[in-house]
Amino acid sequence: MNANISLTTDYAGLRLHNPFIVSSSGLTDSADKVRVLEQEGAAAVVLKSLFEEQIELSVEKELKSGQEYPEAYDYIRTYVRENQVDQYLKLIRACKMSVSIPIIASINCYTKSSWISFAKEIENAGADAIEVNIMIVNTSKEYKYGETERLYVEVLSELKKIVKIPVIIKLSHQLTSPVALLSQLSLNGADAVVLFNRSYTPDVDIKALKLTHNAGLSAQTNFYESLRWIGIGSGRVPQLNLSISGGVFKPEDAIKALLVGANTVSLCSVLYKEGTETIGKMIERLTEWMDAHGFDSIESFRGILNSSHIPDESIYERTQFMRYYSNRK
Ligand SMILES: Cc1cc2nc3c(=O)[nH]c(=O)nc-3n(C[C@H](O)[C@H](O)[C@H](O)COP(=O)(O)O)c2cc1C
Repeated sequence: MNANISLTTDYAGLRLHNPFIVSSSGLTDSADKVRVLEQEGAAAVVLKSLFEEQIELSVEKELKSGQEYPEAYDYIRTYVRENQVDQYLKLIRACKMSVSIPIIASINCYTKSSWISFAKEIENAGADAIEVNIMIVNTSKEYKYGETERLYVEVLSELKKIVKIPVIIKLSHQLTSPVALLSQLSLNGADAVVLFNRSYTPDVDIKALKLTHNAGLSAQTNFYESLRWIGIGSGRVPQLNLSISGGVFKPEDAIKALLVGANTVSLCSVLYKEGTETIGKMIERLTEWMDAHGFDSIESFRGILNSSHIPDESIYERTQFMRYYSNRK
């Protein structure tokens, strides 16, 4: 193996020793797990999210009679919130003491108000960056187009006023124009963007006549939607760092993502399905591939296949679509 090959990657102002990051999930909810991930080769981890709902739900459960005792309700609300946050801050501190790779804290939210002040505490606890996953399913008939995109930008702007550490935004894939949003996020100071989060999808149990949910792990087919928008986004908004997330299962997927412009590759479902030793295999295969192609650094090939090499990718997409479907018998 060529010893001159460097996998060093810059992402969201962090210097990583390779492009592989473990996504926010149950894989990153304790310092012990994070230590193993570092040993397996992860260059950074995104901790399990602190959810707004988690806080709100535990309050409701503990105080069913909240309406009758508003003062007690307020007291317990504050207590539960502080407790949840406290545990999260302990997790950040424990990870920082256990490993030397960057620790990215994660907040999963749906408003721009209640949780934003927690961000300062997260920074003070030693997190190297904050990732924000805004997860909203808009079902209201009164929804005004563009509200979700505005919320992303407002949350980012508020956070940038509060913390000095890098702020990473994790996007949902259900957006009308991811590129326009990437541009707005970049203009408003996003240090990086993750494409994409994946939400649970509903299913129907026809025996029990009940609504259910699909298992939370991705399929490899999820990869191509992320690949498309990384490729287009990296060409259109080149100054913004991007991490691919969703359906990365094979080392070749990681190589493809880097070729179309990803700065980092986020891994989650593959580690659940195939074990955390997959990180080492990804690193090995990436290094072999770089060696075979004469690339000695990630920057020497990152983005060489992004949309900046195609004059108008919307025409390209339509042409490919027409060619494929009109020839298909
Ligand atoms: C079991 C599980 C738990 C997850 N928990 C979180 C979470 O707390 N916060 C978050 O932002 N994303 C969470 N995710 C989403 C992942 O971080 C990731 O974005 C998504 O699974 C797509 O990547 P993948 O295809 O590699 O799994 C979770 C995913 C799984 C499978």
